[in-house]
Amino acid sequence: MSSKLEADHLFKVFGGRPEQAVERLRRGADREDLRADGTTAAVIDASFDVRAGEIFVVMGLSGSGKSTLLRMLNGLLAPTAGHVRFDGEDLTALGDRELRALRSKKISMVFQHFALFPHRSVRDNAAYGLEVQGVPRAERERRADEALALCGLAGWEDSWPDELSGGMQQRVGLARALATDADLLLMDESFSALDPLIRRDMQDQLLELQKTLKKTIVFITHDLNEAMRLGDRIAVMRDGRVVQTGTAEDILLRPANDYVASFIQDVDRSRVLTAAAVMDTDVRGDEADCGCETATPDASFTELCAISARLSHPVAVVDAGRDLVGVVARQRLVAFLGDERGAPTPCADGGGKVTARA
Ligand SMILES: Nc1ncnc2c1ncn2[C@@H]1O[C@H](COP(=O)(O)OP(=O)(O)OP(=O)(O)O)[C@@H](O)[C@H]1O
Ligand SMILES: [Mg+2]
Repeated sequence: MSSKLEADHLFKVFGGRPEQAVERLRRGADREDLRADGTTAAVIDASFDVRAGEIFVVMGLSGSGKSTLLRMLNGLLAPTAGHVRFDGEDLTALGDRELRALRSKKISMVFQHFALFPHRSVRDNAAYGLEVQGVPRAERERRADEALALCGLAGWEDSWPDELSGGMQQRVGLARALATDADLLLMDESFSALDPLIRRDMQDQLLELQKTLKKTIVFITHDLNEAMRLGDRIAVMRDGRVVQTGTAEDILLRPANDYVASFIQDVDRSRVLTAAAVMDTDVRGDEADCGCETATPDASFTELCAISARLSHPVAVVDAGRDLVGVVARQRLVAFLGDERGAPTPCADGGGKVTARA
């Protein structure tokens, strides 16, 4: 996959003498050091590539700099130092008019509290971005209706926003972003204001849409479970810095530091980890011939637990050609599910028990 969007040593400092502050940050100063001068280092030396067609999640606590970073990615905020490249073009070199054109055509944003216009129909709300672009009415209504249907709102086109639930209103926001055909979607805590069940629903819907639309999405959240569900890759931010970038598995299995490690304690590992991530690959080639139940490399922990519970030996992992590529011992499942006490660990689906060996 090629790089769609690139953050190259981005800094954003609010307050007096920002360039000087950047120099200090480059020499290793942190946020706290600058605060004494009344300067806020919102984003410090952030670098990453977002690949075409991926969901790239930026995860961090409140105040870690996520929204500031996102606003630099679409040119709403000029970086104090560093560059943003979109399709290879340096946004920092563009003028206001070019940036506005880029934001109206190629980059769409979906916010946490999506403000719908109360006196416009759902259709006209979804068509708003196209109206700004000057798309003729008939075409923009057709495209708005298509986007609404994609977001599960067919039949609601002529309703008013206040006739919709919060989750449905958020879908109108998503439809507005999709209707413009932008290839880059920036989503800032877009699902955070929703009830947990509706939020999960929206996550599923986004993943389902993404299978066919294959947009490039930067999704911001403070919730690591949401990050792990949605993200092809995740950047973890702390106090303005990106402290780790990787897949959900990278972050779970190889946290870059104690901070990330403390974050992942509450993650439901059985959903994220797969056989490939934890299998022991140092195995002899004939073990797959035992005629017993096997797992594929992308088998989830839930599946592995169930298989393991039915076997008295490690689970063999075989590829599409039925070649043995690894084994997963029961002890390893227990270790990764994070039960340090070594007590029996129920599988996520309740389908079997994994018992630690003494
Ligand atoms: N316009 C501004 N002027 C001064 N300081 C700002 C400005 N915008 C953001 N900040 C500060 O920069 C830091 C990062 O803020 P930012 O909004 O990017 O964080 P965030 O990760 O999006 O937080 P949240 O999860 O609460 O939305 C914070 O300390 C914030 O107070
Ligand atoms: Mg924010």
